[in-house]
Amino acid sequence: MKDQLIIFDTTLRDGEQSPGASMTRDEKIRIARALERLKVNIIEAGFPAASIGDFEAVQAVANVIKDSIVCGLARALDKDIDRAGEALKGAKQSRIHTFIATSPIHMQMKLNMTPEQVIEHAVKAVKRARQYTDDVEFSPEDAGRSDEDFLCRILEAVINAGATTLNIPDTVGYSIPQQFGATIKHLIERIPNSDKAIFSVHCHNDLGLAVANSLSAVMNGARQVECTINGLGERAGNASLEEVVMAVRTRHDVFDCQTRIDTREILTCSKLVSSITGFPVQPNKAIVGANAFAHEAGIHQDGILKSRETYEIMRAEDVGWTANRMVLGKHSGRNAFKNRINELGFEFDSEAELNDAFARFKQLADKKHEIFDEDLQTLISETSIEAEDEHIKLVALKVCSETGEVPNAIVTLRLNNQEMTGNSIGGGVVDATLKAIEQLVKSDASLELYSVNNVTNGTDAQGEVTVRLEKSGRIVNGLGADTDIVTASAKAYINALNKLLNVNARQHPQKSEV
Ligand code: KIV
Ligand code: ZN
Repeated sequence: MKDQLIIFDTTLRDGEQSPGASMTRDEKIRIARALERLKVNIIEAGFPAASIGDFEAVQAVANVIKDSIVCGLARALDKDIDRAGEALKGAKQSRIHTFIATSPIHMQMKLNMTPEQVIEHAVKAVKRARQYTDDVEFSPEDAGRSDEDFLCRILEAVINAGATTLNIPDTVGYSIPQQFGATIKHLIERIPNSDKAIFSVHCHNDLGLAVANSLSAVMNGARQVECTINGLGERAGNASLEEVVMAVRTRHDVFDCQTRIDTREILTCSKLVSSITGFPVQPNKAIVGANAFAHEAGIHQDGILKSRETYEIMRAEDVGWTANRMVLGKHSGRNAFKNRINELGFEFDSEAELNDAFARFKQLADKKHEIFDEDLQTLISETSIEAEDEHIKLVALKVCSETGEVPNAIVTLRLNNQEMTGNSIGGGVVDATLKAIEQLVKSDASLELYSVNNVTNGTDAQGEVTVRLEKSGRIVNGLGADTDIVTASAKAYINALNKLLNVNARQHPQKSEV
């Protein structure tokens, strides 16, 4: 029997710390449900002490997830741990993850604490967390740049205090695989009570080595990997779940452990996270990129046709590429629609919500012959976008584009329950539309990103537009989809504005310190 490699997903916590990737409570629930179907062992749902919004999101995830352990992050502070314990009350299985920095630069410059004080805080935090749950994880933040002797001391102390998982974060993505693997091996060998805890790793991707460092750690005894879907995360991101899982599975000859992940759910999760956050997946991304299994070169295609193993080390269907690609159309009934949506991991809260989504499905099917899973995902994202607090709603849009003429747009919005119409010219109809909206809303936000992706192939495909806005240091992403990309652009812009105007902003978990 091989050991189990525990997969700890932090898409909803560290992934969400990516600028612009913040998620609403309902979006977190949808992703958490998809992660549960993927069979991740632990879902880190957020940082409850960061804001009321974060607290409620962790609480909501804790209340719906049954199979995976739900985890909340807390600094080594009583108030943080109490908030985490409170948020996780309803969970079937809960974990508190507490952390404090241990590198010389963080202890001196950020915490202004001596190493002894840091150990004291860590031990106290772990003991307090144990009052809420038997499952407590401790992370020495910036372990990648911490002194190994000091790590041994603090980790031994927190195990004695009741920590059951020791997570070694390479917070700034500074480590190199061979050296990081050796650190894990030394810690396990040198800490006298190391057999009483699981060793975990949490690698950031600043040098593009997060997955390599994680795998090296696994080869040296780590039995938990912290990772995110699509490698989402701060700066260059975290280790990508799909890459870690598929490496361990594909190279089972090398790894003496295995995960319990249902790999066929990987693609669905990837698309869901991408569509909710508005972070597109690059086409050449391993496992989940559109080209990951596409063989363009004639010589490759010839080989594949003769024997798939000539060029493929994994089967596309094993990560969800071709599985369940059932097509619905305008004649599909309500039941078929509902079943497929449920299989994609979304549950309607009420008959009214199902009816609304089904009506949208019919509208889409009128414009588009075949409806694929990707269309349904987008449609559901749109349904929940509409369910959010909406100060601004698109009522009507008329654009005019003619060769030799300046494009213009007329937009009617419902703004705080009042209808208003604005018009503008622009470099193109999208530009004119966004300017007309801005003329009415006067948000003064700056447009940081505008991107269009087609959800499926063909000229009748839905265009999914992502808009990123920035105002006073706050960054939000807006999403909109439609078979008409001008309408999709207007929806995305309005969605971003609604988020920007939502006062329930989140605070960055690692910004304020002990
Ligand atoms: O990168 C990091 O150090 C973290 C910790 C909170 C584990 O995210
Ligand atoms: Zn991190």
